[in-house]
Amino acid sequence: MGQMGKMPCSLSSVLERVIMVEQILSEFRLKKEQLKEVMKRMMREMDRGLRVETHQEASVKMLPTYVCSTPEGSEVGDFLALDLGGTNFRVMLVKVGEDEERGWKVETKHQMYSISEDAMTGTAEMLFDYIAECISDFLNRQHIKHKKLPLGFTFSFPVRHENIDKGILLNWTKGFKASGAEGNNVVGLLRDAIKRRGDFEMDVVAMVNDTVATMISCYYEDRSCEVGMIVGTGCNACYMEEMRTVELVEGEEGRMCVNTEWGAFGANGELEEFRLEYDRVVDETSLNPGQQLYEKLISGKYMGELVRLVLLKLVNEELLFNGEASDLLKTRGSFETRYVSQIEGDSGDRKQIYNILSTLGVLPSELDCDIVRLACESVSTRAAHMCGAGLAGVINRMRERRSPAVLKITVGIDGSVYKLHPCFQDRFHKVVRELTPHCDITFIQSEEGSGRGAALISAVACKMAACMLTP
Ligand code: BGC
Repeated sequence: MGQMGKMPCSLSSVLERVIMVEQILSEFRLKKEQLKEVMKRMMREMDRGLRVETHQEASVKMLPTYVCSTPEGSEVGDFLALDLGGTNFRVMLVKVGEDEERGWKVETKHQMYSISEDAMTGTAEMLFDYIAECISDFLNRQHIKHKKLPLGFTFSFPVRHENIDKGILLNWTKGFKASGAEGNNVVGLLRDAIKRRGDFEMDVVAMVNDTVATMISCYYEDRSCEVGMIVGTGCNACYMEEMRTVELVEGEEGRMCVNTEWGAFGANGELEEFRLEYDRVVDETSLNPGQQLYEKLISGKYMGELVRLVLLKLVNEELLFNGEASDLLKTRGSFETRYVSQIEGDSGDRKQIYNILSTLGVLPSELDCDIVRLACESVSTRAAHMCGAGLAGVINRMRERRSPAVLKITVGIDGSVYKLHPCFQDRFHKVVRELTPHCDITFIQSEEGSGRGAALISAVACKMAACMLTP
């Protein structure tokens, strides 16, 4: 650390510099009133998304999932679960069994496969052929190629379902762009790819969003879990809504899980006064400009890039790195989101911050390190607060509909930002609780929720199919 360059400046110029940095970063700070406003607008869009006459133009689509509150019990046995939604694709073998104490037991084996940029942005056929290839590899490794297992597919993109095992992809998000998938039945694409290979058979019984899989997997631990949320590469939430208000689906009784797809919030201008110059650049240079604006303020796909743009602004204002950025720092995507977690997790000796900045080709002073940390805190705190306002909207809506004196609710959560950032959770929980009076909220983290959830819902779907077949 001895080699850290010291800024040749007096105390007053240090102070001046810090004040100017603070001024630039203060734009990220949201007052409680502003968060309330975000929450109110979110609730309004949710309402519009649920109603037939406003659904089309609503930014928050509130997609019915056909996952209902009337459990039919579940089958036991082996299930295959697939999880597609980020840079990795996972295949899992899930054994659902009976357990004397809790009524059920789940064991998993899984294998991770990385999805190349080419697969993400080529054709749908290429992407699904690759997925089928991965499944085939997994079945070989597990020596179960001969078995025709029921399969649950966690597909973490906006899907308009017709049923639990049928739904069309509305639009890609998170850097996926495979052509020929949007507007098509995703389960059909998977079935076709499996047929094309012809070396194994599968019975695709359910497709769910990752928020839904997370909620289901947590529901089995805690029967009050009626909300699922992801803050990872993308950001989204689902919750159990009263059937009578899910106007897109017939029926009045019970509840259905609604995938809010709140990441798209902002498409009707609801976030304009909160979006900053950095947000606009992130959006304009993304694969889906004008879309997923709320998600772009929060999720891991964009957080590092937001910080990088803030750092470049500070460099341009001569407030950082002596006014000079390295070529690497000037390169889009070079500041990874995990750096934000690592920098804010620095124990105070600045070692971690120094190391990260060195790998980016800059030699920071101690003050530079502190300023970089402030920039990270500003971006990630705004993300936590914005996200908190959204979840508070969901929970307040549930309380309004159910009208208990106190709504007792559990939220199942997954995602790298939520799990790995050292302060995101606390900041997020605090805002949610501040904005939800008369609610008693428990947050639980899901473990392998995507895979376990998909398998569990498949087990339920199999049971339902069996029920329908047996007179
Ligand atoms: C997708 C959602 C998903 C979320 C978290 C978003 O980009 O639209 O369907 O739940 O990411 O993975």
